[in-house]
Amino acid sequence: MGKLVICDHPLIQHKLTFIRDKNTITKDFRELVGEVATLMAYEITREAPLEHTTIETPVAEMESAVLSGRMIGLVPILRAGLGMVDGILQLIPSAKVGHIGLYRNEETLQPVEYYINLPTDAQERMLIVIDPMLATGGSANAALSALKKRGCTHLKLMVLIAAPEGVEAVRSAHPDVDLYVAALDERLNEHGYIVPGLGDAGDRLFGTK
Ligand code: PRP
Ligand code: URA
Repeated sequence: MGKLVICDHPLIQHKLTFIRDKNTITKDFRELVGEVATLMAYEITREAPLEHTTIETPVAEMESAVLSGRMIGLVPILRAGLGMVDGILQLIPSAKVGHIGLYRNEETLQPVEYYINLPTDAQERMLIVIDPMLATGGSANAALSALKKRGCTHLKLMVLIAAPEGVEAVRSAHPDVDLYVAALDERLNEHGYIVPGLGDAGDRLFGTK
């Protein structure tokens, strides 16, 4: 079974409070989402592949480790996942970025795929699927299935806020995938929104509605 990691570093908890607050303006919301994504990237890359290179310190030659950044790919789920990309790229600038376009049908809550574009070598990379919200788990599951259908096998999922229903859905459909969340909330409401959550992540990031 893949790992379930709750990234509850005090800095993340602090920033998440302002992300959740309905009075936080779009500009601050966007910046904070990026900052939490950076902090979570630190945790998710804990086992990232390293390679060795020879350098000279002022004192001696040595073999030293560098991140094999070209081995990592980010796959934001559109739209809201875009808000986390730059924050992660700050730590892993050589990661490539693919995109999966999905939206939830607001009545059925079923994900509808409208776009997919992956790096040509996606199958050789560790892919981090990113989305601020894991609610029913339908979108994340559809994204992970779309990647597996295209031969990608080394997958991780990073979300800011998850509902227990979404965690359960992903872990039962994709038990091989490690899941990183900043907060695990109480439940979903009758509209499929996470309670207490942060509202609609895409709308808050992009100032729509
Ligand atoms: C939101 C969110 C996730 C999805 C989570 O996207 O960003 O992708 O809902 O819900 P689920 O776990 O029940 O599938 P939304 O469909 O609102 O699209 P948007 O990012 O374009 O706003
Ligand atoms: N999508 C969101 O943006 N927010 C939720 O609470 C659930 C799904």
